[in-house]
Amino acid sequence: MSAEPVAEEPEAEDRTRFAGVLRFYELAKHQEWQVRDVPWGQMPPVPEGKGSPQRQARRRDVWRSVVMQQLQADIIACEMAAQLLNAAPDPEARLYYSTMVQDESRHTEAWLKLIAQVGGEGERDPHLDALGRMFLEADTLEEKIFLMQVFFERLIIPRFRLIARSSRGTILEDICNRLAIDDGIHHGSGMAYERILLERAPKQVKGQLIEAANRMLPEFAEHALWRPKAREMIGSLMEARDRERLKTELNHGVRLARSLGLDVSEVQLPF
Ligand SMILES: [Fe+2]
Ligand SMILES: [Fe+2]
Repeated sequence: MSAEPVAEEPEAEDRTRFAGVLRFYELAKHQEWQVRDVPWGQMPPVPEGKGSPQRQARRRDVWRSVVMQQLQADIIACEMAAQLLNAAPDPEARLYYSTMVQDESRHTEAWLKLIAQVGGEGERDPHLDALGRMFLEADTLEEKIFLMQVFFERLIIPRFRLIARSSRGTILEDICNRLAIDDGIHHGSGMAYERILLERAPKQVKGQLIEAANRMLPEFAEHALWRPKAREMIGSLMEARDRERLKTELNHGVRLARSLGLDVSEVQLPF
């Protein structure tokens, strides 16, 4: 027998903490759909307008701008999901993010096909680009998850429901319903992983999250209320109602942050 001391086995890390994240991986695989599952050609791409050809063209421009905003958001989401996959150190989270990269890419594919049917790409929402830069340039993994999955993907779900309700019997409705489910999973997984990361994060990281929320929320509000030229007229009619709805949504976001154990007393809501 050797007199060498037996090298002590490094204690196996307790991975049961990651069971929640792994559950979202299973859920994502279960919910996975294909762009060919969308009933292309069996229903109109977006609601068809009535009245004069000019009126119909105006209506189509409005819907085109709705689709454009979602396409823009999902292209940014592709880059963001790829960053999360690269930055996450935990195997369970990496497995999960590999599905999120596929989801955001599939969303983009669906929007690209849809926008081709309604006149092609249009005006970009500058606030969405600003939000994208905020996510992509955030310093820590905790901050990226917080901005993207805890806030953005949660705040976007009621918008999908709203668009779906006003576009019954169209391809747009079908896609919005699928994306509301997918983003529910993206949000849930982010909450589960962020909770684990914050258990070990230094206090300073948590403080950064509150600062990041204060930078993000006003920009998100601008994004939610932004109307391209095509929608300006309708925009002003809807703005009061939109503001009310947005206020409720942002308050919900703050409650979520509190449920992660963050001190949200310093969060300033834009209204
Ligand atoms: Fe997406
Ligand atoms: Fe998403």
